[in-house]
Amino acid sequence: MKLAVIGGSGLCRLEALTRAREVKISTPFGEPSAPLIFGRLESLDLIFLARHGPSHTIPPHQINYRANIAALKQQGVTHVIAVAAVGGISRKMAPQRLVVPDQLIDYTYGRPHTFFESDDSPVTHVDFTYPYSESLRQQILTAGKNMDPALIAGGCYGCTQGPRLETAAEILRMERDGCDIVGMTGMPEAALARELELEYACLAVVVNWAAGKSEGLVTMAEIRHHLGQGMKHVQTVLEALALQSG
Ligand code: HPA
Repeated sequence: MKLAVIGGSGLCRLEALTRAREVKISTPFGEPSAPLIFGRLESLDLIFLARHGPSHTIPPHQINYRANIAALKQQGVTHVIAVAAVGGISRKMAPQRLVVPDQLIDYTYGRPHTFFESDDSPVTHVDFTYPYSESLRQQILTAGKNMDPALIAGGCYGCTQGPRLETAAEILRMERDGCDIVGMTGMPEAALARELELEYACLAVVVNWAAGKSEGLVTMAEIRHHLGQGMKHVQTVLEALALQSG
């Protein structure tokens, strides 16, 4: 396995990465969000990519998802763990819980979302019944088996357009649709990874109750607080995964 970690909000770098070196690369789809960081976690070589840029300046709808995924493929990556901050919709998805979703619903629009649209390529429809790699999901869950609170195995990730947060009515609709968590970056990233035949799974951190799911409003202070703590837990899981795979 050649692993890449795409870090989301709150994870612009992996602190435990050693021998880290930055490599700026370009792809036929443009430049990825940030230089790729080649490094070593425990005894596993991996590549880290900051999804929102090195200083967290690229909003979800302006991320060049195609360049990010193409850049990783170009470097021989086979497995991608997508770390993402999300809001919690269903009851058990409380702030600071870590979730490894097994389904998603895409509510985004206007994002370049396929590699298969050049003039001369044949029309291609990839299977996306199960959007995440089950084997990589299981590896993450095994790596996190001693975490307290326990990782939540499964759930449906609803991906909204952002950058604004949702209305309470939108969250109720998403809940009726079957969404358990809500984020803004899960798509088209997951589908593009599937198009390039990468094993892709999401490790989500709940950083707030979604709109209307708690007494008050959604505040950045709340998000920042849970993000800091949650991303520490994410790094613990990634280190355990590196130990078990390195
Ligand atoms: N909604 C959408 N995306 C998010 C949220 C949310 O409540 N929290 C973190 N990312």
